[in-house]
Amino acid sequence: MSQSFDVAVIGAGPGGYVAAIRCAQLDLNTVCIDEWKNPQGKASLGGTCLNVGCIPSKALLESSENYERAAHKFSAHGIKIEGLSVDVSIMMSRKDKIVAGFTGGVAMLLKKNKVISMHGRGTLLKCGKYSDSNAFWQIEVRNGDKVDTVEAKHIIIATGSAPRRLPFAPVDNERILDNTGALALTEAPKRLGVVGGGVIGLEMGSMWRRLGSAVTILEALPGFLTAADEQVAKEARKILTRETGLIIQTGIKINGIKTGENITVEYIDDQGAAQKLEVDKLIVAVGRIPNTTGLGAENVGLKMDDSGYIEVDNGCRTNLPNVYAVGDVVRGPMLAHKASEEGVAVAESIAGQAGHVNLDTIPWVIYTSPEIAWVGKTEQELKTSGIPYKAGQFPFMANGRARALGETGGFVKVLADASTDRILGIHMIGPYVSEMIAEAVVAMEFAASSEDIARIVHAHPSLSEVLHEAALGVAKRALHI
Ligand code: FAD
Ligand code: NAI
Repeated sequence: MSQSFDVAVIGAGPGGYVAAIRCAQLDLNTVCIDEWKNPQGKASLGGTCLNVGCIPSKALLESSENYERAAHKFSAHGIKIEGLSVDVSIMMSRKDKIVAGFTGGVAMLLKKNKVISMHGRGTLLKCGKYSDSNAFWQIEVRNGDKVDTVEAKHIIIATGSAPRRLPFAPVDNERILDNTGALALTEAPKRLGVVGGGVIGLEMGSMWRRLGSAVTILEALPGFLTAADEQVAKEARKILTRETGLIIQTGIKINGIKTGENITVEYIDDQGAAQKLEVDKLIVAVGRIPNTTGLGAENVGLKMDDSGYIEVDNGCRTNLPNVYAVGDVVRGPMLAHKASEEGVAVAESIAGQAGHVNLDTIPWVIYTSPEIAWVGKTEQELKTSGIPYKAGQFPFMANGRARALGETGGFVKVLADASTDRILGIHMIGPYVSEMIAEAVVAMEFAASSEDIARIVHAHPSLSEVLHEAALGVAKRALHI
């Protein structure tokens, strides 16, 4: 006999498990179904983010930055280290421990909140009726030969995304790697190629570069980091090239990849010349696609758009009654915090509350060194939309805390409406801007003006003073430049 629930969540990534916890907090009887297995073949909750995404990448980025500091930056503080060496396998086990701690932690959180956790693939089977006014959805949960069915009045689909594949670059995670393989190498390859100069390419490329690889990034678009503010992207390219040591080639077209003793990438460069790149390992990071494999969308008539995303409205409602979808599998940025907030909003809508996510104030962070972060519109978007704006900018070079840290590259830029002064976008490149961006998000959520930030007291000496000065700069009254 099927078990019955108020809500069945399919997927236990940051969209799904957070939705399930919030449902349970709102007294909804909830099951969370997830099929992820770790390399040991055991169920591992947390989805892409915890297993092969946000968490392991940030753990390794931190390790690689510590190595870089010890090797190249400590000497300026008078700290001398002789015989410095790096053991990548220890870094990997530290990363694995962090991942295991968090994935196990999600299992505990679900249990604590009395969410039933089921391991296996969830497939939508059909819509049934308890009575004329009381319908339910039936889901098959398959784990190998073990098959269960569950029924639920509401469904939240949070099946996430998977790496986009290139037909000429077959990923084996031995030599040609996606994010999973790139986060599991046991030593730094001598020569590392990266196809795709997006977020993963830059984060993974920087990390392996710091650990000793010669890294070449091949990006198809003529521009660099086109989602970011152009000025930030320009500064990032300069620093990542000169200081991190990445070789970044934009405007290339790959013709083919040959694997023999080396991996040879044959491509046409931005001048139209044929080139060959020989590497030992190749990361392919050319975006991600929504994951609806095995979901049974066709069984129930769940509507997708032309790119394979599940179609949803502003409230994450699909075309089917009481069926919602959140996170990477729907429109909007593919970010963990966006997925989680959508999960919370949907749970609250199901419970009769007013769940809502403002997609215009989702912060982006790229964990390169220096970090890049932004919220709201870029300068080029404002120009294209013909919105008159004022800009204020301030460099980390002129900030006391940044100098003390020895991290003086980058700046903060505040963009505000020319007539109302309401903040339209804030863009940062510099140390710890992943933390500083929160102030910008709060400001935008509260419809702050640049003058509001300019009038708020910021601690001294702190990196946040750079945002303060950039806000003062909108009215041409920055104090320290
Ligand atoms: P996912 O995390 O992908 O989870 C989906 C879950 O559903 C998976 O466990 C999957 O196994 C399961 N599933 C799928 N289909 C079924 C089915 N039919 N039945 C049962 N289970 C199913 N984002 C950030 O915000 N910050 C970062 O720093 C960051 N770093 C990243 C680094 C890398 C290398 C990568 C690849 C991504 C990173 N992201 C980051 C993006 C982030 O991981 C995703 O946006 C986030 O995981 C999306 O959450 P989700 O819940 O929608 O999907
Ligand atoms: P991406 O969309 O950020 O970048 C992919 C890049 O590959 C683009 O610049 C694209 O032009 C390029 N490309 C596409 N086809 C190509 C080809 N044939 N040859 C060369 N270049 C090609 O995608 P990425 O880096 O795979 O990351 C996926 C997503 O995961 C991100 O968009 C983001 O949503 C999420 N993520 C978030 C992180 C964070 O928040 N810090 C970290 C890592 C991933």
